[in-house]
Amino acid sequence: MSAVGSSASSSSAKRLEGKVALVTGGATGIGEAIVRLFREHGAKVCVADIQDEAGQQLINSLGGGDNHQNVMFVHCDVTSEDDVSRAVDAAAERFGALDVMVNNAGITGDKVTDIRNVDFAEVRKVFDINVHGAFLGMKHAARVMIPRKKGSIVSLASVASVIAGMGPHGYTASKHAVAGLTKSVAAELGRHGVRVNCVSPYAVPTALSMPHLPQGARADDALKDFLAFIGGEANLKGVDLMPKDVAEAVLYLASDEARYVSALNLMVDGGFTSVNHNLRPFED
Ligand SMILES: NC(=O)c1ccc[n+]([C@@H]2O[C@H](COP(=O)([O-])OP(=O)(O)OC[C@H]3O[C@@H](n4cnc5c(N)ncnc54)[C@H](O)[C@@H]3O)[C@@H](O)[C@H]2O)c1
Repeated sequence: MSAVGSSASSSSAKRLEGKVALVTGGATGIGEAIVRLFREHGAKVCVADIQDEAGQQLINSLGGGDNHQNVMFVHCDVTSEDDVSRAVDAAAERFGALDVMVNNAGITGDKVTDIRNVDFAEVRKVFDINVHGAFLGMKHAARVMIPRKKGSIVSLASVASVIAGMGPHGYTASKHAVAGLTKSVAAELGRHGVRVNCVSPYAVPTALSMPHLPQGARADDALKDFLAFIGGEANLKGVDLMPKDVAEAVLYLASDEARYVSALNLMVDGGFTSVNHNLRPFED
């Protein structure tokens, strides 16, 4: 190895060749984009979700078929420790190891504009999936990664991990917690060679985000309306943030190209959370 080089080459076409990954909430949305991109980059992937039919369809579309050489689906509710533990063991047994754990499953909870009307049971549910689910993913990934002295854990946070006003109270609090959990677990697992990071996207058109548009921004074509409204509020213009863009950030953190990156909250927000959008000092 040269003084400046490393074994990880950014030019390598398949950046996860030989690696095994598990993606929670991998059946649809951003999770599905992560699963597809990971497969393109050579990873063997276990999709873990509560949507069995969508998960099965995804792995069939990826050539899983009957023999499941490179992709598999497991039913997994991330709020159940047994489910998460079993999913991790199933992936490690089928594919021989677990190199990458992606804690992607998440919900927002309903849009409620007055705290007095918030259903507390729903706040608990949001925490159960977004925070406790990510915790369980970290715990059981660590169980199989520590003995191998390597691994990468990536969780989906959100711009709501650093600012308010991007979703319901429970969602914002839960994503702040995911960012905190990421730092805390990275602090522990560094000594075992395991990296722990999270990714924080701005709004991406999926089943999760579409219901949160303001009434006035909704018309007939949901995707077009979403992109017009969200693009109008964005800092970076001329690009629509799509699930694949988020998957690319997760791929980076999963790959050896990020081999010295840990405890990072990687913002995929076109600068949105770094800018005060009210004062507009750069407008004539
Ligand atoms: N879409 C956005 O604008 C956006 C922005 C920032 C962060 N995120 C985060 O990205 C992640 C994925 O969001 P998305 O937009 O793809 O949502 P989505 O609703 O499209 O997909 C979420 C997936 O998680 C699964 N899931 C839900 N509850 C589960 C549970 N208990 N156990 C296992 N799987 C479960 C669903 O079945 C679904 O397949 C979430 O953590 C979300 O908070 C999304």
